[in-house]
Amino acid sequence: MLQKINSLKAEIEGLTASSPAEVEELRIKYLSKKGAVSALMNDFRTVPAEEKRTIGQELNVLKTLATDKINALREAVEAGQAAEADAALDLTRTAAPMPLGSRHPLKIVEGQIIDIFSRLGFSVAEGPEIEDDWHVFSALNFAADHPARDMQDTFFIRREPDVLLRTHTSSVQSRVMEKTQPPIRIICPGRVYRNEAISARAHCFFHQVEALYVDENVSFVDLKQTLLYFARQMFGPDTRIRLRPSYFPFTEPSAEMDISCNLCGGKGCSFCKHTGWVEILGCGMVDPAVLDSCGIDSKRYTGFALGMGVERITNLKYQVKDLRMFSENDKRFLEEFQSAR
Ligand code: DAH
Repeated sequence: MLQKINSLKAEIEGLTASSPAEVEELRIKYLSKKGAVSALMNDFRTVPAEEKRTIGQELNVLKTLATDKINALREAVEAGQAAEADAALDLTRTAAPMPLGSRHPLKIVEGQIIDIFSRLGFSVAEGPEIEDDWHVFSALNFAADHPARDMQDTFFIRREPDVLLRTHTSSVQSRVMEKTQPPIRIICPGRVYRNEAISARAHCFFHQVEALYVDENVSFVDLKQTLLYFARQMFGPDTRIRLRPSYFPFTEPSAEMDISCNLCGGKGCSFCKHTGWVEILGCGMVDPAVLDSCGIDSKRYTGFALGMGVERITNLKYQVKDLRMFSENDKRFLEEFQSAR
């Protein structure tokens, strides 16, 4: 009996297996009810009483040995399989795509405008949307009876003391000039409000970017060169510009700038109404009266200013036909700008 136990021990110690199925076969062969270990256990009955103690202990050792061995084989086989599975993972594969948001087209274009002007040394200045008459109109040389002050154009919140929504970002000019002495070179992006009926071509709020440069010896030549640089950076190197005389209370002389139509290259199309030109901004030399109102010596300093509508520039770049698209938050529209920067 002892001999049988010892040879079975040796046999079990030498067992190997390479798959879960083989381990299971071994378990059945040795540990199941009809297995080799159980057979010896059954023979235990025939062992003489004086040997029962020793044989019993040996049988227990054998059973533990067999159980431990089979468990160890099972673990080893499973670990091997996991390692193989790891090796089959393709770590170079692209990760699952993350749903990216998109920037609003007006913000994309506003960013492009700021970039271009910052390359010329302009820095961003901001002012409040809720304003007073002085900064929006009076300091900018608007006559007391100027039609822009009319309720039809301006949202007045209160008359005394006056509170209103700014109708243009030129108000940031007056705020900055009141606080800063030249040289001033600022770009002012922001939202503005006008009392207009909402349609495809007009909205009660929209966005502007204003630029102001005040220093000694600033001339119209500086303005023109800045405008040409901006137009070519924004719309491409072949873009031409043209200035038409105009009127704004806060600039003298004043002009409106057209660029050669970026859709037809200036040949004439329905977009530019077959003129080859499209208007993009207003500009001029800062009126000395404005400098004086804001505490800047107009005998020593001159300056130029310009202002443009961001919706207008975005329209030209991306052909958005209906202004209302910009504020409707239609995901289908916004997602079209996912790749734009
Ligand atoms: N503030 C003008 C507007 O809202 C735009 C403008 C025109 C701004 C001429 C300027 C400028 O700085 O010089 O229509």
